Amino acid sequence: MSAIVRGNAHALPIADGAVDLIVTSPPYFGLRSYQDGGEHYDGQLGDEATPTEFVDALIECTREMVRVLKPSGSLWVNLGDKYSGAQQQNSSRQSTMSSSDYWRRSNPKAIGIPNKSLMGIPWRYALRCIDDLGLILRAEVIWSKPNGLPESVTDRVRRSHEQWFHFTVEPRYYADVDPIREPHKSARTQPRDGGAPSPWGRAGKFGDVTGERHNTGNAAGSLPGSVWSIATEPLHVPDHLGVDHFAAFPTEWPRRIIRAWSPAGGVVLDPFGGTGTTALVADALGRHGISVDMSADYCRLATWRTTDPKQRAKAAGHKPPAEQIEGQRAMFDLDIEVAS
Ligand SMILES: C[S@@+](CC[C@H](N)C(=O)[O-])C[C@H]1O[C@@H](n2cnc3c(N)ncnc32)[C@H](O)[C@@H]1O
Repeated sequence: MSAIVRGNAHALPIADGAVDLIVTSPPYFGLRSYQDGGEHYDGQLGDEATPTEFVDALIECTREMVRVLKPSGSLWVNLGDKYSGAQQQNSSRQSTMSSSDYWRRSNPKAIGIPNKSLMGIPWRYALRCIDDLGLILRAEVIWSKPNGLPESVTDRVRRSHEQWFHFTVEPRYYADVDPIREPHKSARTQPRDGGAPSPWGRAGKFGDVTGERHNTGNAAGSLPGSVWSIATEPLHVPDHLGVDHFAAFPTEWPRRIIRAWSPAGGVVLDPFGGTGTTALVADALGRHGISVDMSADYCRLATWRTTDPKQRAKAAGHKPPAEQIEGQRAMFDLDIEVAS
């Protein structure tokens, strides 16, 4: 069972070194209004006045994540960016900030970033993680969104991706990438003998910088590249919960990360848990999921989601249990004669 905990990512109610893997998507700077009791709540990340203050606050949360992470653990963080001087888009979306709050956090003069420039928030954050926290940045993975939103600009490309960063505390850490290897694309990359898998990157191994170059030609498949195309998924929340959330990431993100960077039975945390996607998938994959969020409403939503049989089946990659229509008999009720 997942643990859904109401708490603040600045002070996690978790012991030092208790977590194998963190998979999280913190609020983006100056974009959304997360709610509790139907109102914007105080103390949420993303509310800071400037990108610098936002990154400062996120670095302090990351320091706390590192405290609870095992030395063999990994930290995967998803962050989006924003343009200086940008007007609010999709303001009809219930959870975006009010136009004036949004503008205050995009105003080039107030934030000290030239008009029309990307703020570069994911990079600012990643560099501070290396420089201030001493974390090892193992990979930047691009989340390419095949169903991304249209934009009205005409003088630059449409932004159709976000960043994910994979950090570790130590150079050697838990990794078993075999479950997420991809089929070889051409015969050239098949192992010459067509047989034994490479001894590198096998189950339960601790990643080794020198091991990577031996991974080509592995019979289990190719190493995934650093651009992952994953469509966003709508989440349908039952009306009786009286709450909605518009920023859940697709289950496929935690699924790939958890399979490759956490041991079976390990502890997987999302300190900005929202709807509980990470905990839901962790549980479905035989790990212990912990989801922390400041909003009691989102904790209620996550509790529903992590216990709902349909959501659990979907997270495990199974077909959800069929809804039984009144008067219709379920499969196991049918009298089927089995030939002997
Ligand atoms: C982008 S959403 C996460 C969505 C999540 N990945 C999912 O799939 O549902 C960010 C969440 O962080 C929560 N949050 C904001 N500030 C927080 C803080 N200081 N501590 C804990 N949670 C916080 C918000 O309430 C929001 O639900």
